[in-house]
Amino acid sequence: MWSYHNPVDVHAGAGALQALPDLLGQRRAILIAFPEAVALGLVDRLRTLLQDRLVAVETGIAPNPDVAWLAPMYERLWRDHPDAECVIALGGGSAIDCAKVMLTRTQGGRFDALLAAMQGGALPPSQGHRQLIAVPTTAGTGSEVTPWATVWDHASGRKLSLHLPWTWPEAAVIDATLMTTLPRAATVASGLDALSHALESIWNVNRNPVSMALAVTAARRIVQVLPELLASPGRVDLRDHLATAALQAGLAFSNTRTALAHSLSYDITLEHGVAHGIACSFSLPRIMTMALGHDADVDLHLCAIFHTHDGPTAIAGLTAFLESVGVSTDPQHYGISAGDWHHRIDDALRGPRGRNFITAA
Ligand SMILES: [Fe+2]
Repeated sequence: MWSYHNPVDVHAGAGALQALPDLLGQRRAILIAFPEAVALGLVDRLRTLLQDRLVAVETGIAPNPDVAWLAPMYERLWRDHPDAECVIALGGGSAIDCAKVMLTRTQGGRFDALLAAMQGGALPPSQGHRQLIAVPTTAGTGSEVTPWATVWDHASGRKLSLHLPWTWPEAAVIDATLMTTLPRAATVASGLDALSHALESIWNVNRNPVSMALAVTAARRIVQVLPELLASPGRVDLRDHLATAALQAGLAFSNTRTALAHSLSYDITLEHGVAHGIACSFSLPRIMTMALGHDADVDLHLCAIFHTHDGPTAIAGLTAFLESVGVSTDPQHYGISAGDWHHRIDDALRGPRGRNFITAA
């Protein structure tokens, strides 16, 4: 028996941003956007589209948002705009995850109650919540179709996760014309994050026929399109193909969750400052080596992504693909010794995401 569920109302295609006013209706919204959205004219576009329904704009979103930094924004927005029914997230994973943190109303609008829930405590008594409309400007995160927010507590060296029934976005607007100015490094990192979501969804104990179909389609498309896009970064059609693949990967892992590569990645991001999309993808060939040989159907799909029937050839294809976009697959490149790497893999296999990995079946 299996089930697949995703409640997000998806609107996609070049120009899809025009759907935003209808999706918002007469509700009031807070915009949470990446810093460059002002200079790129995107904030002005949203002001024009939404007019006085846009009641607040926050654009100081830092990568990998920290709880110490999120707290004052959270308390300010609940104090100054308690009646705003919606948050619109415009940006990459950090902007969407930050927006998810702003949805839940706690007693007195205090952040510490929400923080306690993220640290594993009880869900705060519901005081209501806002709805989220996610508008990704990168093709990678998948956060627009998942309920999870990743935030960081650098002071205690911890990665935290927020997941509540209402942190599923109400709607996702995927408009590739918003992605054409994304710099090369961010295009690579976000595209590889999506590839990691797809592969992690395939070698996953929670896989099902729908997640598999989405993930295999996504992975094949990313491997094909990302190098073409890096050669022609302004092509909207290629941006649209990559955005669709990232969406499919997000829809796949929204039901399976991630696995070993993501489990390994978080400490590497915390300790060495490696971008999430690189930290969760340089290890993929090593992890594919571990994944092959446990399920004939999974093996067939993994090999097909790289146009072969042979596992070692598929692993070589994945390694060559990563290196072709400038990503080393050697842990030592990221400051991790060979011995340390073995320990990290053993630890990750015992963690919650490691237990999603196919070898745990
Ligand atoms: Fe990821």
